[in-house]
Amino acid sequence: MAIEISKIASGVQPSATLAMSAKAKELKAQGETVYNLSVGEPDFDTPSHICDAAAKAMREGKTRYTVASGLPELKEAICEYHNTRFGVDYKPSQCVVSNGAKHALHNAFFATLNPGDEAILPAPYWVSYAELIKLSGAVPVVVQTTEQDGFKLTPEAFEAAITPKTRMLLLCNPSNPTGSCYTRDELVALAKIAVAHNLFVVADEIYERLIYDGAKFASFPTVLDGLQDRTIVINGVSKTYAMTGWRIGWLLAPENVAKKVSSLQSQETSNPCSISQYAAIAALKGDQGCVDQMRAEFEKRRDYVMSRIAAIPGMSAPKTGGAFYVFFNIQKFLGQERGGVKIETDSDWCLQLLQQKKVATVMGSAFGAPGYVRASFAASMETLKTAFDRIAEFLG
Ligand SMILES: Cc1ncc(COP(=O)(O)O)c(C=O)c1O
Repeated sequence: MAIEISKIASGVQPSATLAMSAKAKELKAQGETVYNLSVGEPDFDTPSHICDAAAKAMREGKTRYTVASGLPELKEAICEYHNTRFGVDYKPSQCVVSNGAKHALHNAFFATLNPGDEAILPAPYWVSYAELIKLSGAVPVVVQTTEQDGFKLTPEAFEAAITPKTRMLLLCNPSNPTGSCYTRDELVALAKIAVAHNLFVVADEIYERLIYDGAKFASFPTVLDGLQDRTIVINGVSKTYAMTGWRIGWLLAPENVAKKVSSLQSQETSNPCSISQYAAIAALKGDQGCVDQMRAEFEKRRDYVMSRIAAIPGMSAPKTGGAFYVFFNIQKFLGQERGGVKIETDSDWCLQLLQQKKVATVMGSAFGAPGYVRASFAASMETLKTAFDRIAEFLG
């Protein structure tokens, strides 16, 4: 007897970024040198003072269950971090620590969305949002943004997508996959619409420390009075402190939401790894010089990658303002042949680039934006140089 898959699970697609990364690893295992620009994780090691804190926690026997929603001292550290950086006013009772920001997003959607509710999702969007919204039974309503608008949701497009079923807006700032950053004024315009239509906002701010050109990051709940009551902020240590494998993320939400998420998590997963939680305390409370160094290195790479893209005739991309991705337009190359193979779609483009030149990227269609490609510059300068030499070669 074949066990039948549930209707909800059947509707969920695997992560395209992880699939591309797996393909690159497969080639590597066959002995090929692969230039991997498909992954969304810092290539730096976790700073040593954070690792030391984890080792100390292990040695001190801090290896047991913690409070399911996270250690009280970590919640204190998270609130202090947000309150001092952004001038918000969060209490530990509004914070839930989860197994990475992805889990925090899942918890947020599951605790607040009902089957049939509509959630507005600006495209290009990070691959997991649509699938996680669907898992909660709600409907992702994709709103296209344009390269001309820097891939940012305009107030007009936002308002036009609202129906009586709309309950939520998902805002990723800075954006994965486009690297776009909203200004405070742009956020205010969107916030006013959310308030006027009584919507809540899930603000994924996991890349808030990785912004460039001296820009000042505006955290969504701070841009208008009263927004904290209708916002769920998502953040974590993965990107800021090069801690993707440690699996610590969190949400900050109105107390009733945080309380329900705590109950859900206590039944589903219990606490995130105790040792990782102690490491996260060290990350948030320790010297922030490591973050500044990594950010500065990413900015150098961003400049390099933008200059390489500008030098390829027919290719274009808005300037990346944050995160570590560039999202470039390859429409001019579609319909052409490369190495005897006709390239019809962005998926063909990425696949042939990987097969012919051993450079891994991710097709824009995985992010709801066909005709584009995402490349991560969380890779060494040498890797980026060779990868872009090969992309230039590939394009003739
Ligand atoms: C926009 C965005 N949100 C959330 C996450 C998930 O982060 P974590 O590794 O903490 O689960 C990612 C990871 O790629 C991301 O790009």
